[in-house]
Amino acid sequence: MGRGSRLTRLDAFTKTVEDARVRTTSGGIVTIVSVFIVFVLVVGEFNDYRRIIVRPELVVDKTRGEQLPINLNITFPHVPCELLTLDVMDVSGEQQSSITHGISLTRLTPYPESRPVSTSSLNLHDDSASHLDPSYCGNCYGAPAPEGKNGCCNTCEDVRESYANIGWAFGKGEGVEQCEREHYAERLDSMREEGCNIAGHLSVNKVIGNFHIAPGKSFSTAQMHVHDLNQYFASSKAHTFSHVIHSLSFGPELPSMVKHQHNPLDGTSQSTAERSFNFMYFIKVVSTSYLPLGVTETTEGAGTGAVETHQYSVTSHKRSLAGGQDAEHASTVHAKGGIPGVFFSYDISPMKVINREARAKSFAGFLTGVCAVIGGTLTVAAAIDRGVYEGALRVKKLHQG
Ligand SMILES: *[C@@H]1O[C@H](CO)[C@@H](O)[C@H](O)[C@H]1NC(C)=O
Repeated sequence: MGRGSRLTRLDAFTKTVEDARVRTTSGGIVTIVSVFIVFVLVVGEFNDYRRIIVRPELVVDKTRGEQLPINLNITFPHVPCELLTLDVMDVSGEQQSSITHGISLTRLTPYPESRPVSTSSLNLHDDSASHLDPSYCGNCYGAPAPEGKNGCCNTCEDVRESYANIGWAFGKGEGVEQCEREHYAERLDSMREEGCNIAGHLSVNKVIGNFHIAPGKSFSTAQMHVHDLNQYFASSKAHTFSHVIHSLSFGPELPSMVKHQHNPLDGTSQSTAERSFNFMYFIKVVSTSYLPLGVTETTEGAGTGAVETHQYSVTSHKRSLAGGQDAEHASTVHAKGGIPGVFFSYDISPMKVINREARAKSFAGFLTGVCAVIGGTLTVAAAIDRGVYEGALRVKKLHQG
């Protein structure tokens, strides 16, 4: 035996002599089964390679000076639109009182029907100042006229606003010529049974703050924020702040892949039978972005499909204010036990979640997987085939012997 034979002993791939090869039926079956298994596993491997997964990352939110968009759609079945006011206040001192821009108030027919009041029966600003003498300048009854009205209060709404601006209770406008002309009191009474839907978008500074929906015109000074609660409590029909939150979100929707659940307040409702009842929601807002495959950084408005939005978690609290309120107090300051309404306090989380789309496997990983599947299956198949073959031989020998 020479050098050649020593190498021969190292050959891992021993070859079979052609004559010694035998084909058996069992071998055929094992081959078919193993080919089938290889096929199934390779398809699985391919699907795994094509699969896109979403990897969440947590980073410190370094964006500055952004606005926080709020989308809301809330129904109040027992308070007419005329009595509802939406205000925003934040720690920077900015206040947006009686927001109307971007928000629509829809009058609803009395509970439990609560359908939008058909426009044909809508005559909210009927009898306005439009038909009056152009030189007419209405009296503001001692209150300063609202901005941009040239010192005049031509409509009941103007008088109401001027009163609210300095914190006077307005009531039903008795003795106010503009309101009597517009039949404000009758209109208010005719709406008593109605409900209201508030829906729309607003934008707030991305700092701690709150927005609330409370009765009556509001006005603010540096120290306090006051609502004119007179008409809310004066009503014979018991208004309450029972409400249904159809949706409340901060920013655009996330793609369905990551939106495992709805926003926590969507489709929730709270009810009360008390007039003086206060609902509070404490919301933690978390910035969230979604980067589709191929988008690595959030580029503003580049149309890349990146989504910048916010998720939130919420805890709620409610309490009765009964005892502290009576109809005599035209205006009530927040600090004094609070006012009825629905308050949303929001706080911004310093952490941001980035959801990044990624391939579950690289192409090299895919190839490795395919080789492993083919090699492994064939080896196991060969072992089985050999076992079956030798077992059969032994049985045969036993019978002969
Ligand atoms: C508010 O939600 C209600 C109930 O889901 C829906 O009918 C209504 O169209 C929504 N309003 C807006 C402005 O989206």
